[in-house]
Amino acid sequence: MRGIATVVGDAFGDPSLAELVARLRASPDWIADLSIVALHDDSVVGHIAFTRALLDAPRRLVDVLVLSPVSVAPAHQGMGVGAALIRHGLRRLSARPEPLVFVEGSPAYYRRFGFEPAGALGFRRPSLRIPEAAFQVIRLGPYEPWMTGTLVYSRVFWDMDAVGLREAGEGDAQSS
Ligand SMILES: CC(C)(COP(=O)(O)OP(=O)(O)OC[C@H]1O[C@@H](n2cnc3c(N)ncnc32)[C@H](O)[C@@H]1OP(=O)(O)O)[C@@H](O)C(=O)NCCC(=O)NCCS
Repeated sequence: MRGIATVVGDAFGDPSLAELVARLRASPDWIADLSIVALHDDSVVGHIAFTRALLDAPRRLVDVLVLSPVSVAPAHQGMGVGAALIRHGLRRLSARPEPLVFVEGSPAYYRRFGFEPAGALGFRRPSLRIPEAAFQVIRLGPYEPWMTGTLVYSRVFWDMDAVGLREAGEGDAQSS
């Protein structure tokens, strides 16, 4: 059976990214219910995970979610697998207490799921290596307008130097 690690490594063309998922899984920031796979003939062909993060808001720290990584096996890309996983995952969030889910990635892809540019809504990206346009958010039911501030990724992303993760095949992105 093709595992999650293989799909993540293959999707990004970087086997070390499989280690990111392994370390996230072993961390307190992993949420088992929010690690979701797509199967084809009993093989994993897609995977997404929403992990715990913090928003450093003026009033207090707020528990939030980050959608990362998002991986579809190269042979199965462009067939709706990523979209089905993300839509399914977002529906699961309706039962959760976190008010916000952040993503870093192409707005051309993520806006179809309801992600909006986060900077314009008062959020600061966790690293200058994330282009401003790539920093996006969905405000969920528990969101309140005072919840602004800086996103702080799980420690695991910093340990793996995976903040500002480039999309597969993409060169240095420009801020806009
Ligand atoms: C990005 C990714 C998750 C999309 O999943 P997918 O199953 O291939 O995509 P879907 O079939 O759901 O959607 C296809 C649409 O997404 C668009 N798309 C796919 N990858 C894109 C990208 N990197 N940037 C912008 N649009 C993208 C396609 O052009 C297509 O658009 P259309 O519907 O307007 O024709 C997948 O291609 C992948 O794993 N890529 C490598 C890893 C990566 O870059 N992950 C995201 C960064 S965290």
